[in-house]
Amino acid sequence: MVATATRDRATTGVGTMDAGVPGAGVRRLMVTDFRSYTSAVLESGIGPIVLTGPNGAGKTNLLEAVSMLSPGRGLRRATLSEMVRNGAERWAIAAEAETVNGACSIGTGLNNDNGSERRIARIDGETVGPAALGGLLPVSWLTPQMDRLFLDGASARRRFVDRLIFGFDPGHASRSNAYEKAMRERLRLLKDGRMDVAWLSALEAQMAEHGVAIAAARRAWSLRIGGALRQMTGPFPAAEIALQGVAEELLADRPAVQVEEDLATRWRDGRGLDRHAGRTTDGPHRSDLLVRHVAKDIPAEQCSTGEQKALLISLILADARMQQAERGVVPIMLLDEVAAHLDSARRSALFDEISALGGQAWLTGTDRELFAAFGTRAQYFGIDGSMVTPG
Ligand SMILES: Nc1ncnc2c1ncn2[C@@H]1O[C@H](COP(=O)(O)OP(=O)(O)OP(=O)(O)O)[C@@H](O)[C@H]1O
Ligand SMILES: [Mg+2]
Repeated sequence: MVATATRDRATTGVGTMDAGVPGAGVRRLMVTDFRSYTSAVLESGIGPIVLTGPNGAGKTNLLEAVSMLSPGRGLRRATLSEMVRNGAERWAIAAEAETVNGACSIGTGLNNDNGSERRIARIDGETVGPAALGGLLPVSWLTPQMDRLFLDGASARRRFVDRLIFGFDPGHASRSNAYEKAMRERLRLLKDGRMDVAWLSALEAQMAEHGVAIAAARRAWSLRIGGALRQMTGPFPAAEIALQGVAEELLADRPAVQVEEDLATRWRDGRGLDRHAGRTTDGPHRSDLLVRHVAKDIPAEQCSTGEQKALLISLILADARMQQAERGVVPIMLLDEVAAHLDSARRSALFDEISALGGQAWLTGTDRELFAAFGTRAQYFGIDGSMVTPG
């Protein structure tokens, strides 16, 4: 169970509502030259946080800042330079957070000292690779752009799964990077017509090793979240999920070492095809998440817009419940403009779920009234002109 933050409570004087709650969360967030913010600080406890303000005020930018405390490209999938405030040269985010390892400081930002842009990360003052943030501060999110998650291509659904796994598997991000790197290098050799068999085989072996580990982590996740998802009731419906992908499917009935060999053989036999196609035609980088609405017995893509949103919320809540049950940690949930899309009964149900989980959820909206059903259970901040005002 995560340590409660006696240290931070003493220094910030906030967070009296969360004694003993096993939630991950941010107690102090400081952004510098990030998006529309020159500099801003937000101090909070580990409970629901509501950010309200007019369009363009800077609400989503703050959620994006929190999302950058974990590995990956954050909730907008932006490049590092897109996040720099116009007119500035680099951005930085510093947070005092409750992590799975207890209270710690996390810093991240853009470093462009040597002319090349790269992301830097610090944990308790020590410089680390960004992948080291994996498993430290579980963060999940829902954004308006994800309303089409079940309708668009597999890549967004795959990212959704991998993002949730980042939260509790420290190695998942680095394995994904290593897999992609080997895959890019193999493809470059093929495209250049350099049929160096030993080199290609070595890269395919690396892809197989990392690819099987990635697929195994996804399978383990789907089996664990599956139970929580089937138990969802009320406005956020029960769902069945399945992973569709060569490695994930092979792992269902044979040992990992065998799957590694099978994948390496497929890639070896597929060199000509991949060279011709200009891409790697098969592998865990093409896996998909299939979701089914249990009560209606139809695939998610056939559900109505509102039903799809409810299914997405089910996935996020089930993941949080699963992590709470298994690890004693509730992930941070970033719910951008989610409240506005729900009717009042569903809104209340969502606020009750979030409050019962006891973790830190960040919710945004233009109208404070939308959040009335939270009452005193949430901490409120007004955002206007990229300024943060508590209360
Ligand atoms: N790199 C940047 N530099 C400066 N400003 C930026 C940068 N990127 C985005 N912005 C601006 O930040 C402002 C706030 O954006 P944000 O998406 O956070 O607004 P919001 O409060 O979520 O609004 P909405 O309610 O419309 O979703 C916008 O006006 C946007 O143009
Ligand atoms: Mg927004």
